[in-house]
Amino acid sequence: MSFRKMIAVTFAAFAVLSSFAQDAPEKVSVKSGRILVAYYSWSESGNTKYAAEQIQKSSGGELLEIKPKNAYPKDYSACLAQAQKEIRDGVRVELANEPVDFRKYDVVFIGSPNWFGTVAPPAASFFASAGLAGKTVIPFFTYGSGGMQNCERDAKKLAEKAGKVLPAKAIRGANVREADKEIADWVGSMLDVTKDAAASGFYGFELKSWDGKDVKTADFKGRVVLVVNTATRCGFTPQYERLEKLYKEYHDKGFELIDIPCNQFGGQAPGSDEEINTFCTSRYSTTFPRMTKCDVNGEKQIPLYKFLKEETNKADIRWNFTKFLVDRNGKVVKRFESGDSLDELEKLIKSLLEQK
Ligand SMILES: Cc1cc2nc3c(=O)[nH]c(=O)nc-3n(C[C@H](O)[C@H](O)[C@H](O)COP(=O)(O)O)c2cc1C
Repeated sequence: MSFRKMIAVTFAAFAVLSSFAQDAPEKVSVKSGRILVAYYSWSESGNTKYAAEQIQKSSGGELLEIKPKNAYPKDYSACLAQAQKEIRDGVRVELANEPVDFRKYDVVFIGSPNWFGTVAPPAASFFASAGLAGKTVIPFFTYGSGGMQNCERDAKKLAEKAGKVLPAKAIRGANVREADKEIADWVGSMLDVTKDAAASGFYGFELKSWDGKDVKTADFKGRVVLVVNTATRCGFTPQYERLEKLYKEYHDKGFELIDIPCNQFGGQAPGSDEEINTFCTSRYSTTFPRMTKCDVNGEKQIPLYKFLKEETNKADIRWNFTKFLVDRNGKVVKRFESGDSLDELEKLIKSLLEQK
């Protein structure tokens, strides 16, 4: 290569590199409490739900499950038939969710499974929400084998009111559970998140009550919260009596208790959600909120427990009636093992209630 040619090539390479540097998209700066992670998920394996939970974890945002007013049939071919017809006819399905107060958010992730190459109708309705005006919308999808297909293009069209729509992410459903890092890196490449402990952390989780209602930990902002994994046939089960006493005594002063039945320790919570609830209310007259039965360790553990453990001693839950106490600012203050003193627990609750 002649000297001149070499200089020309070097300059060309330099120009290309510097244009890349200029084009690197600027990250969106946002407080974690101003991020919403909304998703629709239909299948038993909950692929899009899993992706949403990972995004929530990386961003600290609030999770929201998008729910159609008329749920799709559980049967696969019936669901296919209904979805295909709705998509072909351009039906905009109604949602069962309470209206979202979009003023609380700057960045809205919206997730959907790929249905017939496009956005699933419930997520499509959410993409078309008027409240997205001026927001940064970030679509994400899970798919069977088709990849992104028209999902990104159609999401952009639907979200025409949004301030801007960032490039979408598509993950193969079958691989989503190995994609934690990929999802975290993708979130990190777009957002510069200021973690706001009071707005995210403990307050970023969604639970289900024993009778199927949505419960968000964000509903407990400003309160002292005790989270307990319980069981109905355990030597510690009589602790229910003391827990109810604590709840009665301190609820009006700002105390909350979240009962999470769990069958992972000696199979000592074998009943259905309804049976467990009937047992607790009739035997111990409990009045505090009870969730659906959950895993607190292992692959299927609910994200709240992953968080509670990470915030304390990182150890797996050892037994029924392990307790986590959270202060009015969402800080996990202490983990109590099953047999730890309930008098000590009460003392700490009292002192945390006095803090504003
Ligand atoms: C009604 C229906 C239509 C689907 N159409 C497609 C498709 O066109 N392309 C594709 O790759 N996957 C398709 N899938 C597979 C889903 O996109 C995939 O399994 C996804 O990860 C499921 O997410 P979920 O577990 O959150 O429901 C379809 C699934 C259903 C139920």
